[in-house]
Amino acid sequence: MMARLGFIGTGDITRAMVRGLAGQGHEILISPRNAAIAATLAAEVAGVTIATNADVVAGSDVVFLCLLARVAEEVLPGLPFRTDHRVISVMVDAPLAKLRRLCAPATDIALTIPLPPIAKGGCPLPVYPASATLEALFGARNPVITLETETALAAHLGVSAICSPMLDQLLTAAGWLAGHTGDPAAAEAYVAAMIRAYLPERAAPGELAGALRNLSTEGGLNATLRAKMAGSKVDMVQGLDGFSTRLGLKGKA
Ligand SMILES: NC(=O)c1ccc[n+]([C@@H]2O[C@H](COP(=O)([O-])OP(=O)(O)OC[C@H]3O[C@@H](n4cnc5c(N)ncnc54)[C@H](OP(=O)(O)O)[C@@H]3O)[C@@H](O)[C@H]2O)c1
Repeated sequence: MMARLGFIGTGDITRAMVRGLAGQGHEILISPRNAAIAATLAAEVAGVTIATNADVVAGSDVVFLCLLARVAEEVLPGLPFRTDHRVISVMVDAPLAKLRRLCAPATDIALTIPLPPIAKGGCPLPVYPASATLEALFGARNPVITLETETALAAHLGVSAICSPMLDQLLTAAGWLAGHTGDPAAAEAYVAAMIRAYLPERAAPGELAGALRNLSTEGGLNATLRAKMAGSKVDMVQGLDGFSTRLGLKGKA
């Protein structure tokens, strides 16, 4: 499907999404900010043109909202949205009710959560409500996960934040390994490859729990370290619960 795609806000996540769309024949309009990223994408990806925010919206059938939410409040109401636009927001802190107001008269609005790996593919894409457009554009290379409620989407947003502390832990382990081997590059490569080996692109039900059970030999290194780090599980749940108010989730914030 060749499409006219527009991106409002040309930051990290737009760069990753546009790279992920390269080579598919789309006409892609991107807004001029961030100027350096916009120039890089226009030079690198065929079919990409830089235009004003208004021209991005006017010249597109599908508009991706990739601003910070507080900037979106100021920028979106002045743009020429139409009833036939399909709008896809990747923004945190921008629920559907707010977006309907900011993008009126457009009503076909979906929320999704692309992460930087979408540039290469293999990035899970939770979406609410169902979006045939997102599936057509990204579904061949990324598993699209259609959710039943906006609350479920918000909870996925919360859990997407585990990437940073998880990577931090992996780097801590790699640093510890390098302290013993003297080879930081090899240490990082080993830790990344080892963890990757446990993470299938589409885990079957129970697959992660089964892998964990197989790492539970009493007195083994894995079980010993897990017991020592049990507090980190509590920290994670408390941290996620701390998002409840911000993400509009019921519960323990
Ligand atoms: N990065 C992620 O992994 C990730 C994941 C999921 C969701 N998100 C969400 O995606 C959205 C964008 O995130 P990001 O990481 O890509 O942020 P970002 O790199 O800060 O990108 C936002 C861009 O908006 C531009 N901008 C500011 N004012 C503008 C205006 N008036 N018109 C057009 N563009 C303007 C900024 O340009 P200047 O640099 O020139 O100010 C900046 O490049 C956020 O709502 C975030 O919550 C991000």
